[in-house]
Amino acid sequence: MLIYGKQVSANLRAKIADKVNDFESSMGRKPCLAVIIVGEDPASKTYVKNKINGCAEVGMKSLSFEYPDGEPQQNIADTINSLANDDGVDGILVQLPLPKGYDESYLLSLIPDSKDVDGFSPNNLGRLAMGNPRTVSCTPLGVMNLLADTGVDLQGKNAVVLGRSNTVGKPMAMLLLNANCTVTVCHSRTVGLEEFTRKADILVVAIGKPKFVTGDMVKEGAIVIDVGINRVEGKLCGDVDFDSVEPKASFITPVPGGVGPMTITMLLYNTLCAAVDRELNKR
Ligand code: GUN
Repeated sequence: MLIYGKQVSANLRAKIADKVNDFESSMGRKPCLAVIIVGEDPASKTYVKNKINGCAEVGMKSLSFEYPDGEPQQNIADTINSLANDDGVDGILVQLPLPKGYDESYLLSLIPDSKDVDGFSPNNLGRLAMGNPRTVSCTPLGVMNLLADTGVDLQGKNAVVLGRSNTVGKPMAMLLLNANCTVTVCHSRTVGLEEFTRKADILVVAIGKPKFVTGDMVKEGAIVIDVGINRVEGKLCGDVDFDSVEPKASFITPVPGGVGPMTITMLLYNTLCAAVDRELNKR
């Protein structure tokens, strides 16, 4: 069966829009997300545009800061610091990757934990690792929502995550562990990868290689979640070879229309939660 991320996402956005409306009625302001982009990467520009449009769709305020590649790092740092101190701003997002020459971890470190709607800060990642999460990285959180939508009980299942990035693979593994799965993280240096993937009841693929996972690598009846977005000969495809894997999977996400739409929805959710938490902390 296909997992329709677009539909799950639309249902969640409608609920978020209701809560945004409640927030505005009681607080007299809208939740606000500030997005910073540096450089001209076309994919990043599209993502940022979709984030800004997503805010409008659920009734949130957004601010966008666009800098050319070559903008002095101090100017970007000054913007982040001023947004950090702006009481009307709930979330700050620096679109990654930054162009070469910028110190990504320094700039991200200027975002206070309470406004880190990407869930990338050491505190937010650490809290997730300790089973007491606050803000969780958007893509893995979206995957958990898609898994919940299948109705399958995750407890005790063998979950295999392909990829170990700080933004997807690691938080994904921790979320699955917190959901009582038995979790294995595989990556580009894993020896005998197929032996692991063939044991997976749940296979989450975020390895960044087009059509990398093929049918022979997947267990009959597995749930397969494809986080990849690749452009091959002008067409979008995932990290999973859909045609050979789909007949074996009990559930599978398509690309596009699977995980992709969930990521921005989770960003909107994280921004709403940040706004609510910040207001509660003032009391
Ligand atoms: N670039 C690709 N995905 C993301 C994301 O989730 N957050 C940020 N900040 N940059 C990204």
